Amino acid sequence: MHVLLGITGGISAYKATGIIRLLTESGHTVKVLPTQNALRFIGAATLEALSHNSVDSDLYTDVADVKHIALAQEADLVIVAPATAAFLARYATGLADDLLGNVLLATTAPVVIAPAMHTEMWQHPATKANVETLNLRGVKILEPAVGRLTGADTGVGRLPEPKDIVTFALSALQKQDLVGRKFLITAGGTQESIDPVRFIGNKSSGKQGIAIAKAAQARGAEVLLVAANVANIDTGLSETLRVSSAAELSEAVQGQAAKFDCLIMAAAVSDFRVENVSSSKIKRSEVGQELNLKLVANPDILAETVKSLSAAKSKTLTVGFAAETIEDNSEVEALTQLALSKLAAKQCDLIVANNVFNGKVFDSDVNNVLILAANGDSFSSSGTKYEVANQLLDVISDMLD
Ligand code: C5P
Repeated sequence: MHVLLGITGGISAYKATGIIRLLTESGHTVKVLPTQNALRFIGAATLEALSHNSVDSDLYTDVADVKHIALAQEADLVIVAPATAAFLARYATGLADDLLGNVLLATTAPVVIAPAMHTEMWQHPATKANVETLNLRGVKILEPAVGRLTGADTGVGRLPEPKDIVTFALSALQKQDLVGRKFLITAGGTQESIDPVRFIGNKSSGKQGIAIAKAAQARGAEVLLVAANVANIDTGLSETLRVSSAAELSEAVQGQAAKFDCLIMAAAVSDFRVENVSSSKIKRSEVGQELNLKLVANPDILAETVKSLSAAKSKTLTVGFAAETIEDNSEVEALTQLALSKLAAKQCDLIVANNVFNGKVFDSDVNNVLILAANGDSFSSSGTKYEVANQLLDVISDMLD
């Protein structure tokens, strides 16, 4: 991807080096366009060395190449960081008096800006009006951080860290194909109590379900995540409901699934629970050498939900997961067969199957899955759990349309 990085004349211009580093290390081509005042704070040589590209700040060199138009047209994304109060004023009024200003008027690429200035300047009505104008024009504006400013003072106005600017900028490129869609997503693994301190659980970390929830939200969906015993996660999601047992998860899902466009059951649900849960801790001294627990079946939440959704003629798309253990080399074939029978048993629209033999997948950040649709279509997907989430959402998005 071709990224244009505009740098304007603020003290935090030095932080742009971190942005260049992160972008080039992720394989993006970076062309830096500092304003003349930015070059008072950071040298062109530093920017050229880090971006592996020439740095341009003058509108009146190489005029025959009409470079402001060429740069504007080849850009996939424009980032301006730091963006000063003066820059916001120029950009909001469409003032094209330097190379960066011209490029910004000529480009159709998404523009992301990260303002940085003293608190009083950020809160000034003139700056607020400029930010509002740019916002209405579709410019993505990252709010300044709160913290130490140039002098000894602190407050809002600090340039956010390079990694936050890059994450925000890349998310601006995210397609918004799930706007207006509601997703109910379960993640993690249920726990069935034996007594007040012990339980029967499983190894699901919840990472894949959470990745799907985050990716769906980034694509514009309204997401309710039902999280079963996941570690302290900062999902960044607007709505998360924490549950523990299969019964609690069932209550969270069954009653309201019909209100959603899509139900994704990524949680590993215990198939059995202890019939008589002890109200006090079971003591070895009292039990002796053998402890017999009677397990009774939990309802199959997905299968039951699909049944009641179809009885109510609800259009909710249903997605199940299948964690299988396949030892031999016929992985894809065997996985396909198991996924097909799971699809038939649950009657859901899609099954996402993965091979968890030898602890593969659990708590890992990568995954390798087979996505099987009730109409016979199949897709394989691998990569980080976030990439797999997006590939699954591509399939779901097509089916919802
Ligand atoms: O039958 P199995 O446990 O392999 O099915 C896995 C799928 O079914 C997952 O989507 C899981 O969330 C769901 N499931 C369920 N209720 C159960 C067991 C599994 O909804 N009791």
